[in-house]
Amino acid sequence: MLSVNELTEKQAQEELKRIAEEMAKADIAYYQNDDPYLTDAEYDSLKQRNEEIEKRFPNLIRTDSPSQKIGAAVKSGFGKVKHRFPMLSLADVFNVEEVDSFIMSVKRFLNTSAMPALMAEPKIDGLSFSARYEKGKFVQGATRGDGTTGEDITENLKTISELPLNITGNVPDILEIRGEVYMSKADFFNLNKKYESEGKKTFANPRNAAAGSLRQLDSKITAERKLSIFAYTWGEVSERIWNSQEDFFKHLKSWGFPTNPLNKLCSNLNEIEQNFQKLMEIRASLPYDIDGIVYKVNDISLQERLGFLTRTPRWAIAHKFPAEQALTKINNIRIQVGRTGALTPVADLEPVNVGGVIVSHATLHNEDEIKRKDIRINDTVVIQRAGDVIPQIVEVIKEKRPENSQEFIFPTTCPQCGAHAIREEDEAVRRCTGGLTCPAQAIERIIHFVSKDAFDINGLGEKIVEDFYHEGILKNPADIFTLEERNNGGDLFSYNRGIHLESREGWGKKSVENLFKAIREKRTISLPRFIYALGIRQVGSATALLIAKNYGDFASFSHDMQLKETGKLVSIDGIGASMATDIVEFFQEQHNIEIINKLQQNITIENYIDETDYSSPIAGKTIVFTGTLEQMTRSEAKAKAQSLGAKVSGSVSKNTDYVIIGNDAGSKATKASELGITILKEEEFINLIK
Ligand code: IVH
Repeated sequence: MLSVNELTEKQAQEELKRIAEEMAKADIAYYQNDDPYLTDAEYDSLKQRNEEIEKRFPNLIRTDSPSQKIGAAVKSGFGKVKHRFPMLSLADVFNVEEVDSFIMSVKRFLNTSAMPALMAEPKIDGLSFSARYEKGKFVQGATRGDGTTGEDITENLKTISELPLNITGNVPDILEIRGEVYMSKADFFNLNKKYESEGKKTFANPRNAAAGSLRQLDSKITAERKLSIFAYTWGEVSERIWNSQEDFFKHLKSWGFPTNPLNKLCSNLNEIEQNFQKLMEIRASLPYDIDGIVYKVNDISLQERLGFLTRTPRWAIAHKFPAEQALTKINNIRIQVGRTGALTPVADLEPVNVGGVIVSHATLHNEDEIKRKDIRINDTVVIQRAGDVIPQIVEVIKEKRPENSQEFIFPTTCPQCGAHAIREEDEAVRRCTGGLTCPAQAIERIIHFVSKDAFDINGLGEKIVEDFYHEGILKNPADIFTLEERNNGGDLFSYNRGIHLESREGWGKKSVENLFKAIREKRTISLPRFIYALGIRQVGSATALLIAKNYGDFASFSHDMQLKETGKLVSIDGIGASMATDIVEFFQEQHNIEIINKLQQNITIENYIDETDYSSPIAGKTIVFTGTLEQMTRSEAKAKAQSLGAKVSGSVSKNTDYVIIGNDAGSKATKASELGITILKEEEFINLIK
């Protein structure tokens, strides 16, 4: 084998390709088939060679390079389970002050001065599960998945001896118990020791080991690994026979579920702080990993009043332990070009173990961040990772700065396409102006388009999108839906000629058919997904949903945006002027409109169907609250109105249906009466929605 220094660029490119393919194959054998064929040492030396070549040729780093991979392989083959109640996540905070703000916001929402008791529960670092019982019998198990749909892991959960399969006593007919599956530290070490002696690749940490064990298609393998559980919440229940979190734990115990012995009810901030200190101290000596503390409002009727934001409850929060840190060296700084053209500097690090995970890259965010922290190539730095967050550079150890440290000059042209990269005055990011003529942006746009929360097309992985792009097979998202036709067309004179996906290396009839099937299945798409898939700057899933809810169909949204009519858009609570500008700009770009038109010839965008109960008299109405309400807080009133299908707006216009006035209502009430809009007192509003 040639030494890395002797490689020509072409040889390096070929070798990087070979290593990426080899390691992807090894990963599948390891993660999906649980049948590793490379020893640990072989795997590591491939990885090392890959890194050395990439260090010498940073411009050749592939998006599917083993150095770019985060997390475990995606699994196919599990049945899907739609959660009847979504499995939510929690907002994270990192210090006691933020916990205090959380408590204050809860009090404000409930309009009370008394602090509600909070259940403090260790946050188990595993993966969540849901177990469904019907008439006391375990019938179905699921992973969290994307929160709405998870994987069917019924057989795998059955192998966990701590999970009761039959529960008796006072049990609701339908009962979904949720909690965390984890692997104890001792079982993790034993498993790794065994794997090491067998020459197999070991797991990076107990969480990965638990995930890899639970998400096995063959439940016999799960059975061989020792997994444990803690139960802590519920999903669907036919009758809620508990009225507090504390009470729920008593039921869980009586049914035979393991609950964490360190769960503790706290009634003031002092207790919360003491409990946090105590858990921090004993953390290392606990038999399982915890990464923080979860606080939940104990009283369920208060939880119900507080309700939910898009993905998280208002009644709970996670207080994360400080991130784990390590020292390492910056070998290089390079620029990544994202979907919206943002140039993001990334530091290549000397690989280092941070809390059990090997870290070799860290984001540097933007130009100013590099300057502010005075980060240079060859510097020694403190890096940290917290949970799943991309590793960050905390600070430079100036005393260790070597003579050959090198300042990084931020490019003013795009390293991918050479177009000017400009930075607007009030923006932190520099952006490539190449638009879709920039390959990096075009590729990232397609990758975004097929991603999980967008069109969710299986079989169009990043590497394939990239190859297809460079070969001219997929130049933009609309090409996806003509792929099958073009592949089958094959007429000698058209530009379709020569696609023949089935004759690609590593492909066959079956895989091509699977891909086409996956694409065909997505020819009908929901409106929020479609809007999100477009990849408009600042428009994430939550914003796309707001837009879909308010416009109902794509045509009217697109019509307004093309004509720069933003009145309706900015009246949506949660959409501000800067977002509106980005959206309008998107629709002014001719190539975006062309792609949308082409897409519409090949797909059906479903109108948005709101599942809100429209029998309420305020459903579909636009409401403005003003003045101080007495019987509920403003946020509570707003949440209530929204749950009854009303739109809540911050300003009065001719589109407003009702203005609800509290005490000291000012100019909004005046404007409403000028416009002849119905004005209701708080009392009248409550009667109306009763
Ligand atoms: S409650 C709506 N309680 O943390 C509340 N979650 O960041 C749902 N977790 O997905 C979660 N220990 O996997 C809750 N005692 C605990 C937990 C816990 C660990 C995990 C869980 C969840 C994630 C949210």
